[in-house]
Amino acid sequence: MRRILSGMQPTNRLQLGNYLGALRNWVALQDQNYQCLYCVVDMHAITQPYDAATLAQSTREAAAAYIAAGVDPKKCILFVQSAVADLHAELMWYLATMTQIGKLNRMTQFKDKAGKDSERVGLGLYAYPVLMAADILLYKATHVPVGHDQKQHLELAREIAATFNHRYGQDFFPQPEPQILGEATRVMSLRDGTQKMSKSDPSDLSRINLTDDADMIADKIKRAKTDPHPLPDTVEGLAGRPEADNLLTIYAALSGRAKADVVAEFAGQQFSQFKPKLAEVCVAALSPITARMRELLQDPAEIDAILRDGGSQAREIGAPVMADVRKIMGLWS
Ligand code: AMP
Ligand code: TRP
Repeated sequence: MRRILSGMQPTNRLQLGNYLGALRNWVALQDQNYQCLYCVVDMHAITQPYDAATLAQSTREAAAAYIAAGVDPKKCILFVQSAVADLHAELMWYLATMTQIGKLNRMTQFKDKAGKDSERVGLGLYAYPVLMAADILLYKATHVPVGHDQKQHLELAREIAATFNHRYGQDFFPQPEPQILGEATRVMSLRDGTQKMSKSDPSDLSRINLTDDADMIADKIKRAKTDPHPLPDTVEGLAGRPEADNLLTIYAALSGRAKADVVAEFAGQQFSQFKPKLAEVCVAALSPITARMRELLQDPAEIDAILRDGGSQAREIGAPVMADVRKIMGLWS
């Protein structure tokens, strides 16, 4: 059985990187002979400062974005991590007993998020990758579609699965395979082509949110950082030009074309000629999603019903796995 699990945090609004790096691939995969579980990982979102008053609404909004982008609740199990919190947290604890802290110390996302203050950040942020491993292994997922930045976390999940299997002498957990797909697995900030586009960047000009309207998108692209040279005529000519590379990559991904093809089309042009074209493809791709999201959010009860139903389906898959895990580990029952 090929089974996919992936998730996103309900922090602020989803941005173009989430869409191109992950969400769009989730939609494509639901028609490819996998059982797909897509969750909103609210238990991950609370590892950093957040607003308790708006978390539930952000969770609904993230689910609405999944559906608006094309995730079909009839084909996939769409659920909230905390609806199955007991199982995710329990498995995380068991897996924590077989995760070496030396490995956690090497996680670049932790280092980035902790910044200089790594002595004062919470245990939850440190243990974040173990919870992610539990999300995946609880459902014995075989494939995990994510953006490039999650590669290291996936590698850790594979190692934890192998440690469990080895320690208990069973071929129990499959090795989850990362699926890092498409032209834009690492969308960069519009303000700095060396930083990834992120929901948590303080500058809203650095990203395109799935909820931005056409004018905002055009304005952000117009103000996006560039360099003084015309666009190159080969992909190799993008080396050392991170902003040009990023904008052309986004264009290629959104228009469903190969990067080389897009580079050839705009060869020798100025950014001022290219940017309006980029804004056009961005608006064309995102505006139907934005509109659908607005529609869905008119009826939060409907989203909640989908999520509740998904939560019980996820539990049906996870509960027997947990029962086996407890037995294998020798816990009293
Ligand atoms: P997060 O926003 O950290 O919860 O990420 C959710 C998903 O979006 C993960 O699969 C990430 O790898 C992906 N993602 C986030 N930001 C980017 C980006 N700038 N480029 C490509 N993928 C991204
Ligand atoms: N850590 C992932 C991110 O920040 C989100 C996530 C949590 C996830 N659990 C997961 C992704 C399980 C894939 C599978 O993007």
